[in-house]
Amino acid sequence: MFPLTKGKFTAQAHVALPAGTYEEEHGRKGFFGRSAHLYHAHPPTAWIRFEGKLRPHCFDLNRLDPTDRTEAGGAPLAFLGNPDVKLSVSRRQTPMPFYFRNADGDELIFVHRGEGVVETDFGPLEFEKGDYLVLPRAVTYRMVPRTTDNFFLIIESKGEFEPPEKGLLGQHALYDPSVILTPEPAPLLDDHREWEVRIRCDGEFSSVWYPFNPLDVVGWKGDLTAWKLRMRDIRPVMSHRAHLPPSAHTTFVTPGAVVCSFLPRPLEQDPEAQRVPFFHRNTDYDEFIFYHDGDFFSRDNIRAGMATLHPRGIHHGPHPKALAGQKAKTHTGEYAVMLDGLNPIQVLPAGEQVEWQDYWKSWSGQ
Ligand SMILES: [Fe+2]
Repeated sequence: MFPLTKGKFTAQAHVALPAGTYEEEHGRKGFFGRSAHLYHAHPPTAWIRFEGKLRPHCFDLNRLDPTDRTEAGGAPLAFLGNPDVKLSVSRRQTPMPFYFRNADGDELIFVHRGEGVVETDFGPLEFEKGDYLVLPRAVTYRMVPRTTDNFFLIIESKGEFEPPEKGLLGQHALYDPSVILTPEPAPLLDDHREWEVRIRCDGEFSSVWYPFNPLDVVGWKGDLTAWKLRMRDIRPVMSHRAHLPPSAHTTFVTPGAVVCSFLPRPLEQDPEAQRVPFFHRNTDYDEFIFYHDGDFFSRDNIRAGMATLHPRGIHHGPHPKALAGQKAKTHTGEYAVMLDGLNPIQVLPAGEQVEWQDYWKSWSGQ
């Protein structure tokens, strides 16, 4: 019975669209499941009005002011979340004067700006711009930045962050498991100050004090540890003949969410192939993108440190200028982190305060 074909269509998705049409991918399970391609006479983002809660969102996260920016004892600020994942920003300028242990979830910290070291039970991990730090639930850690203008995007999940299944691509695609960095034990045995370990459990903070540095692990073994992946070690896949879906850029999977990394790469060379992302309406996921660096050519008026949230049920796709100018582009120069959430992602009060209210109008002029 499937696939059905009706009316005007193209046999190969994203290639040689019927003249005057705008292709939309209507798909299930992100980009893995059943799908249909719809050939519209108008861009599905050419709306003129919205009513109700549902709309595309854009946030200038540079304007968030977490308490850890000015207070050594401060904390990151959450701006989006759902029962599975919570997204926060830390702007910590100075080393944490305490250790932290998150008993509520695993943390994936993306270093947007800054460098330093994160001390963990397993040993220290150096970090710099573009690093992903994975800190499993209840690992004791302390951020020790060497720079003062720092910006960390923190993704907290109820479940573990794991590498994706590479499937047909083979295990060395996207990133070779050997590029993953794990800490060496470095016990701080000569540090006999009184140290606080601040623990968050069920949303509440408690503290426990020791008369010595609690990072006293002299050795460890097992298959659970803190680890690091550098964005620059990711080698994206592409097809020169047909645009690949975002799922081809998956970096981490966690229950309730998938995290992808978009990196500079050549665009499709086939003259009939689309070179911009196709329109879609996110049937099963809410889609968050954090713009890290480079040239965000498929979006107008987006700068580094900004983020978008496209909820399920409503379309998004390339802005008119990107759609019109795609033939002139040979490469994409953007670095971005995407999170697809399985359950609806709510905008928290801090997010509302830094929202660009007219973002939904940015597709006008089509
Ligand atoms: Fe999307």
